[in-house]
Amino acid sequence: MTNYSNRKNISLTDLSQTLEGETTILDKFRYIEGRRFHNVQDVVYCFPCDKQEINCMVLSHILYKNHWKSNFSSPIYERLNFTGTRVLDVGCGSGIWTIEMANDYPKTTFLGIDISSVFPIEDRPCNAGFLEHNILDGLPFPAATFDCVFQRNMFAAYTDANWLNTVEELVRVTKPNGFIEFMENDIEFRNQGPVSRRINNTENSQNITDVTHQQIKMAVGGWGGENGDKLRRILVSNLGSLKPMIKLSLGIEDTEWESLALDYNLEVETYKTYITSHRIYARKGTSCIVQIPVD
Ligand SMILES: C[S@@+](CC[C@H](N)C(=O)[O-])C[C@H]1O[C@@H](n2cnc3c(N)ncnc32)[C@H](O)[C@@H]1O
Repeated sequence: MTNYSNRKNISLTDLSQTLEGETTILDKFRYIEGRRFHNVQDVVYCFPCDKQEINCMVLSHILYKNHWKSNFSSPIYERLNFTGTRVLDVGCGSGIWTIEMANDYPKTTFLGIDISSVFPIEDRPCNAGFLEHNILDGLPFPAATFDCVFQRNMFAAYTDANWLNTVEELVRVTKPNGFIEFMENDIEFRNQGPVSRRINNTENSQNITDVTHQQIKMAVGGWGGENGDKLRRILVSNLGSLKPMIKLSLGIEDTEWESLALDYNLEVETYKTYITSHRIYARKGTSCIVQIPVD
């Protein structure tokens, strides 16, 4: 049995204090082991916000599309073809989902928001916009603004308390009869080998109806064909993103890290590791009184 008793839970603040010396709240980013991270106090999100991470987000987007055969599941196709429909992409990252949707549905307006402006500023369709904003400060929109609110891959962005407040905010800005959709992968891997187990262990009441939950399995590794290999590359990149944190948490040095990463690549094939990807969508009810501000 592996002994995890030495493992510590490490935050970005711990890390930058340990490895980098001083970062002040006036700095927009902090840099750890050559990777760039946000520098917003009390935000738990610990993945980098740099070019390498954007590439990984784009690769993930392609993989999800291959698996799910669509960009979303909510029954809003018709509405997306009406002028005036508005869609919010919460934690839009690279902006690839927002942009692809804006190209597919030119009559709808899409807005992506993210704490780090890694989204494209200029190279975007005219019905797509982006806003730099910390979601934990609440959403800067009046109630009932959007026909659909979409949030993908934000498992690392919230504490349990953050999560409850955020869901409340997402519901608030959704129009009655509009949809809220989440897409997340299980953080628990199936058929893990010892290395992935070691690494991976480092870490309501809303007015909504008609909740639908869909799920699919995604293989990790070449045993799952091209998509499996893509996901393996994404996860290896994720491990790289969290390298300083995992090293500190497991108390290991660079050499052990390298051999762990190598073993990880091999064992996903041996164990046929997979993760489950979920989409959950729900309709906002019409029973609540939504206060729409008067101009
Ligand atoms: C894993 S990425 C997912 C990006 C995108 N949703 C996708 O699926 O391609 C998570 C994103 O959430 C953003 N994020 C994390 N915490 C946030 C916060 N408090 N407010 C706004 N964005 C946040 C990060 O900057 C990052 O771009």
